[in-house]
Amino acid sequence: MGAGKSTLGPQLAARLGRPFVSVDAVVEEQAGTTVPQIFADRGQEAFRELEERAAIEALTRRVPAVVELGGGALGADSTRVALAEHAFTLLLETTPEEAWERVSSEDRPLARDPGEFWDLFVERTPLYEAVADGHARDLDGAVLAAAGVHVWEGAVDGLAGLIPGEGSVELVVDAGVEPLHGDRARAALAERLAATHVVPAGERAKTLAEAERLWSTIRLDRGGTLVALGGGSTIDLAGLAAATYLRGVAWVPVPTTLLAQVDAAIGGKTALDIPVGKNLVGAFHWPARVIVDPELLGTLPADELENGLAEVVKTGLLAGEPLWELDRGAQVRRCAEFKAAICLRDPYDLGERAQLNLGHTFAHALEAASDFTLPHGKAVALGLLAALRLSELDGEVRAVEEVLRPEPVRVDREAAWRALERDKKRVDGRTRLVLLGAPGRPRLNVEVDDAIVRAALDALIA
Ligand SMILES: NC(=O)c1ccc[n+]([C@@H]2O[C@H](COP(=O)([O-])OP(=O)(O)OC[C@H]3O[C@@H](n4cnc5c(N)ncnc54)[C@H](O)[C@@H]3O)[C@@H](O)[C@H]2O)c1
Ligand SMILES: [Zn+2]
Repeated sequence: MGAGKSTLGPQLAARLGRPFVSVDAVVEEQAGTTVPQIFADRGQEAFRELEERAAIEALTRRVPAVVELGGGALGADSTRVALAEHAFTLLLETTPEEAWERVSSEDRPLARDPGEFWDLFVERTPLYEAVADGHARDLDGAVLAAAGVHVWEGAVDGLAGLIPGEGSVELVVDAGVEPLHGDRARAALAERLAATHVVPAGERAKTLAEAERLWSTIRLDRGGTLVALGGGSTIDLAGLAAATYLRGVAWVPVPTTLLAQVDAAIGGKTALDIPVGKNLVGAFHWPARVIVDPELLGTLPADELENGLAEVVKTGLLAGEPLWELDRGAQVRRCAEFKAAICLRDPYDLGERAQLNLGHTFAHALEAASDFTLPHGKAVALGLLAALRLSELDGEVRAVEEVLRPEPVRVDREAAWRALERDKKRVDGRTRLVLLGAPGRPRLNVEVDDAIVRAALDALIA
């Protein structure tokens, strides 16, 4: 009571693209009167019966909803069972002082005396904790918790407590990250750690041979968890291994690059490269948790930071906020939250998740034409430039130029165009692109004439 559910609930529902149901409002509608009036006329017990019925109904709807449930509802066994079976239960954290501040001015039957309110708060807290699957204090926190993403400095030291379940854990770690952060992660995992698998640094990990090596050496049973410590490459490989080993075991990425913290570790896509193309073999396998510790970025070389910054700028353009101006910790949290919300709305990449490809059609063409010697961040910076020029957003073009300083690249123009033409989103001599109507307003599947796309691509090439 007084945690801010009725403000945050509808906002969370909007962000997740789900209906919002307030159990109190349903009860009031069915009873034809207000909650204080039901308490006054019929007593608390009668209210609890109505509440229980409305809660079960809301929690077992066919279409999932964000359900606002009052603290007193946890007194009913059947409601607690329905929560455990059907819901991800989020505890909105508050202090008794904050909560009293919110409720004392309203007419609430159980919030008329500060002393009694305090006692009730203390009495109910263990009940809340017992049903909570996640905790949050604000809207971003609620989305992150729903996606299983934990963002905080030093989180890596609390790894063991953050990995769900009791089973054993095996660690997959990037060979470049191992000497920097391997011992710290192993110390944190302590008794649960059964084995460490060091994989090649970076993209060279994403091969069938490395996946086979993991399949052959992992000893986890179905209750075990694979933890990935590294950038997007290690995470893609370990996620793929987790999706396939024993037909799927739990996994927890612990991203160590900016790109992986804001992008690759979020959303449950995993992939390997095969000789005919990158990321062609993979699976959707939502991680049990994602542990994001911005402190791990302290050892990241500048060029790797640049790769991540390009995705931060992309996310800021999609969100309509200059997220690149935030300090690193806030940047990571907001970007991770933004991607998590999109992925929760479109987990299998069938719709709006395509917006995350902003600038990437051009970027992939340039990367392919450079034989993948062009770093992804530099390619994305150029791709964003092209997409923003085609969107006729001059202010944003200048922002990208200032923040990412993209330089035209020396690649073969024909090779770049052929790579772009192979893009499967092309239909009947026209290319489908993600553009922006305005910052924060992505437009998907915009068909653009080949000549215009080609001119935009050419402008990126020295
Ligand atoms: N699954 C997805 O949704 C998704 C999304 C975006 C990108 N990706 C994939 O991510 C990959 C790129 O990942 P990346 O950019 O994170 O880099 P990466 O994993 O390829 O690593 C790059 C380099 O950084 C080093 N490194 C990593 N963390 C470090 C640290 N903390 N300190 C010092 N060095 C460190 C690594 O050893 C490696 O040499 C690509 O293969 C891409 O396809 C996947
Ligand atoms: Zn990218």
